[in-house]
Amino acid sequence: MSSNPCNGCAKSGSCSDTEKQRCEKDQQHQQLQQRLADIRQRILVMSGKGGVGKSTTAVNLALALARQGKRVGLLDIDLHGPSVPTLLGLEGQRPAVEDGCMVPIDIEGLKVISIGFLTQTADDALIWRGPMKTGVIQQFLRDVQWGELDYLVVDCPPGTGDEPLSIVQLLGTTSSGAVLVTTPQKVALVDVRKSVTFCRQLKLPVYGIVENMSGFVCPKCNEVIDIFKKGGGRQMAADMQVPFLGAVPVDPRMVEAGDAGTPLVTVEDSPTAAALRDIAQELQLRCSNPTAGTASLED
Ligand SMILES: Nc1ncnc2c1ncn2[C@@H]1O[C@H](COP(=O)(O)OP(=O)(O)O)[C@@H](O)[C@H]1O
Ligand SMILES: [Mg+2]
Ligand SMILES: [Zn+2]
Repeated sequence: MSSNPCNGCAKSGSCSDTEKQRCEKDQQHQQLQQRLADIRQRILVMSGKGGVGKSTTAVNLALALARQGKRVGLLDIDLHGPSVPTLLGLEGQRPAVEDGCMVPIDIEGLKVISIGFLTQTADDALIWRGPMKTGVIQQFLRDVQWGELDYLVVDCPPGTGDEPLSIVQLLGTTSSGAVLVTTPQKVALVDVRKSVTFCRQLKLPVYGIVENMSGFVCPKCNEVIDIFKKGGGRQMAADMQVPFLGAVPVDPRMVEAGDAGTPLVTVEDSPTAAALRDIAQELQLRCSNPTAGTASLED
């Protein structure tokens, strides 16, 4: 018996050290469940590989949903390359702490938390071991004042490793689903197949596939030109019997938008922004009916 009061169940002095550990775990689990009860839908933005535009998609979809009148949170758990602060022009910001909980940074009503807010400089090399990753992700869900949200959009690191696994385990598979981002290139398509398999194994619904960098917006006339082979994402969605959410062309303005910290989705006349806004709308339908409508090649 130890004489220190137990933080978990507050039965002063009556819990052994092992019991205390279990009590604290139980308490943390309860706190997490309470927090999650206020979040209606969780959207995990994933991809098999980096550089396909996952963060770009996550940021723009989150902002589009917020602009469509929803209460939205954006959580960046790409521990090795958090890019959400940059994409939203929030570098160097530090979330306030109230009652031991982080307060998300608010941008246009969108509530943002990124691992990038907590590291000292953008170049901080972080060495995370598996248990640390799970711990930090858990804290980002539990110890953040998310409040009531219609959607929590999560920018996951690429691949099917520790972080995506942790987040799925923490969030559960009811009211959660994945948006898989790919590009028309064959290699990227192969990787997204692995992501579909990963979701199936975890019983996580796939809300749909986004084919990013599909065609090119001409800077002169604003028309979409199909410079590469496109349509692979739709084909694969049909093959794998998951919904296809849409194709997003490359818009050279995306890079400027990212550098300026003003997401492209706010640009009215960009076909890329329009595609992202449509996907956000489509996503709302998917979330309310996740089993409906797998992709067909006709629609
Ligand atoms: N549709 C697009 N049009 C133009 N540039 C894009 C588009 N999607 C992504 N990019 C650019 O590609 C790069 C990688 O995107 P990012 O979202 O960081 O990928 P990931 O998170 O998958 O690693 C970024 O420089 C981003 O600005
Ligand atoms: Mg990224
Ligand atoms: Zn043109």
